[in-house]
Amino acid sequence: MKSAHETKAANPRLNEVFDDLVATLKAFIRKHHIQYDEYHRALALLTEAGDKQEIPLLMDVFLEMTVNDVTYADRPGTETTVEGPFYVAGAPMLKQPFVLPHRANEPGDVLFFSGTVRSTDGAPLARAVVDVWQSDAEGQYSHFNIPEAKAPFNLRGRLTTDQSGRFEVQTWVPSSYQIPIAGPTGALLTALGRHAWRPAHLHLKVSHDGHATLTTQVFLQDDPWIDSDVVGAVKGSLVVGLTKHEDPSDLRKRDLKRPYYTASYDFVLPRVMAKAA
Ligand code: BEZ
Ligand code: FE
Repeated sequence: MKSAHETKAANPRLNEVFDDLVATLKAFIRKHHIQYDEYHRALALLTEAGDKQEIPLLMDVFLEMTVNDVTYADRPGTETTVEGPFYVAGAPMLKQPFVLPHRANEPGDVLFFSGTVRSTDGAPLARAVVDVWQSDAEGQYSHFNIPEAKAPFNLRGRLTTDQSGRFEVQTWVPSSYQIPIAGPTGALLTALGRHAWRPAHLHLKVSHDGHATLTTQVFLQDDPWIDSDVVGAVKGSLVVGLTKHEDPSDLRKRDLKRPYYTASYDFVLPRVMAKAA
C-alpha cells in the first residue's frame, strides 16, 4: 500500500522495507514505553558511533550474522559467516611458496594452513583465489590496530590454488581477541553485561569464475570463546583442530627452529547459473 508521504514510488522495495522498519520501531517504542531519556541515549550512542567511524562495527556485531543467515539460507557448499569490519580489499597477490606478509619479529607460532577448493560437483578448482586476513597472535588487525606504515597488509594476502585445487599458506596462529572496546560498541556491551571476545579465526574470501564467492571464517577448535562468540558467527562445520609439530625431522623439513602448527580446510563453492539471454 502507498504511504501517505509518498510522492512517487521510485524504488518500491525501499518504500516497503523502510515503511516496515519505521512501523516496527514505532511498535517497539510503544511496547517498551521508550521515554525521552532513552531516546536521547540512543541518539548519543549513534552520534558517537558515527563520529568514531564505528557504525560498521556496531552493525556487524549485532546484526550482520542475521543478514548472513537470510542472504545465504539455501546456499549449498561450505557454510558462510560474517565478513566483519576488518576486511581490506587489494591485499598482495602472493607468489609460491605462499607466506602472508608479516613483520620481522612477528609474534606467536607459525601455522601452515592448507586445503582444497572444489565445486559442489566435486571438481577441483584450479586458480581459485583465496583471500586471507586475520588478527596477529596478539589479537591485532593490520590497517586498524597496527599502523599501516609499519606493516602494510600484515597477515593479509591473496593466493591461488594449483591444478588440483590445492593450496598451502604459511601464516601465524591467530589469537582470540576482543572487538574494540574503547568506543560506543564496547560501552554498550559492558552496559549489557556482555563480553567482547571473538574466538581465534582466519577470515577467507574464496572465488573462482563461474562460482559464487564464499566469504567465511575458519575457527580454531580449542579456543576458550568458541561457544560464546560476541558476534555469534561460529558454525560447527567451520571449526578445525590445530596439529602441533615438534619432531626434529618435521622442523628440518620446514627449515624451522621452533615447533609449528598445521590446520586444513576443504572449501566447496556453488556454481552460478549463467543467466539466459
Ligand atoms: C571480525 O571477525 O573481524 C568481526 C566480525 C564482526 C564484528 C566484529 C569483528
Ligand atoms: Fe576477525
